[in-house]
Amino acid sequence: MTNRYPSTAQFIAQEAPIESFYCLSKQALENQVQRFISGFSGVVAYAVKANPAPELVHALAACGIRAYDVASIAEVALVRGIMPNAYVMYDNPVKSRDEITQAYHDYGVRSYALDDVREFEKIQSIIGADESVQLTVRFKIPTNTAKYDLSEKFGADEALSIELLKKVSAAGYRCGLTFHPGSQCTDAGAYREYIEKAAEIVKAAGVPIVSLNVGGGFPSRYLGESLPDLQDYFSAIGDAFDSAFGGTETTLISEPGRCLVDSCISLLCQVKHRRDDHTVFINDGVYGGFMEQLFSPIVHPVRAFRGAEALTGDCAPFTVWGPTCDSLDILAHKPMLPEDVAEGDWIEFGLMGGYGSSTATEFNGFTSNRYVFVG
Ligand SMILES: Cc1ncc(COP(=O)(O)O)c(C=O)c1O
Repeated sequence: MTNRYPSTAQFIAQEAPIESFYCLSKQALENQVQRFISGFSGVVAYAVKANPAPELVHALAACGIRAYDVASIAEVALVRGIMPNAYVMYDNPVKSRDEITQAYHDYGVRSYALDDVREFEKIQSIIGADESVQLTVRFKIPTNTAKYDLSEKFGADEALSIELLKKVSAAGYRCGLTFHPGSQCTDAGAYREYIEKAAEIVKAAGVPIVSLNVGGGFPSRYLGESLPDLQDYFSAIGDAFDSAFGGTETTLISEPGRCLVDSCISLLCQVKHRRDDHTVFINDGVYGGFMEQLFSPIVHPVRAFRGAEALTGDCAPFTVWGPTCDSLDILAHKPMLPEDVAEGDWIEFGLMGGYGSSTATEFNGFTSNRYVFVG
C-alpha cells in the first residue's frame, strides 16, 4: 500500500526521506488524461514502457484508459493483472516465438505490430488463421523532428509496407498501420506527413485498414523548450486524419507515454553533500531516474526544500552529481538552485513520470523505484 500525503512538503515534514521518492499526483494525472481524451479525436492508449509503476497503471485505469501499448510479456501480464479486459496492442515490432505464443495463448492478445516479412511469417506460423487478430504494419518516412529518433530501428519503407499490408490481408487478418514520429517530437506537422503517407500506402495496397495508430511522441514541456501547444498536435492529427480517412471505417488511435504521465510525477531527492564550488551530490542520478540525461540535456523544473519549507532566495547554476562512483553520473544541464542549498536539503525535480523509474538500474546498489501519492 503506497502512502499518501497532502503535499511534497508534508511528505518531507512527516518522513524526512533519506532515499529518493517519486511523488505521484492522481489529480494531475486525471487532468492530463482528460486533456488527451477531450482533445484527441480517437482512442487514447497508454504506452506502458514510459512508466510501468503499478501505482500509475492502476491510476490510469481509474481515469478511464482502456487500451495499452505493450512491449514485452511482463507488460502484458501487468496490464492483464490490473485490467483483465483492457485492449492490449503488442506494438513492439520484433517479438520472439515464445513471446508471441504466450501473448496469444496465455494472455489473449489479438493485436500485434510488425515491420518485416519474417516477423509476419513468424506470427502467422504461431497463430494460424484467426480473423479476430489484427496485424499492424509499422512504417516510416525520412523525416525527423524529435529528440529521440526511433526510425533507425523500426519501420518498413513504403514499398515494404504495401507488400506487408497485402500479405496480412490475404492471410485473413485485420489490417492496421502505425508509425512513431520519435519521442519528444517538436513538430506537430510531422504527424500530418505520416498520415498522408499512410493514406498513400493504403491506396496502393488496395486494402482497407481498421486502425491508424499515430504512436506517441507528444512532447513534455521541459524548461527552455519552445513547443506548439498540445492542442495544435491534436488539431494537426485530426485534420489530416479527416481529410485522408474521413468517411472510412478506420479508427484513429494514439499511444502516448511521456506526455501523458510526465507531469503528474516528480522525483524528490536529498542532498548528500555540498561543496563550495556550487556542486551538490544527490541520492539519485543517471543510473536511476535521470537516465535520459545521458542522451539529452533535458532541463527539469526544480524546487528546493529545507524541511517542509521551500527555499527561496537567489539562485545559481549548480553542478549536480548522482550517488554512484561513475563520473558519467552527472546532470547534463546545471539546474538553478538556491545559493544556500546544503547537505540534508531536498530537491524536487518535476516532469519525471516518463522514462524515469522505468529505466532506472541498481548500479552501485542505489535503487530508484519508490512511490508515494501526493495531493
Ligand atoms: C511503439 C511505441 N509507442 C508509443 C511509444 C511512446 O512514445 P512517447 O513516450 O514518446 O509518447 C513508444 C516509445 O518508444 C513506442 O516505441
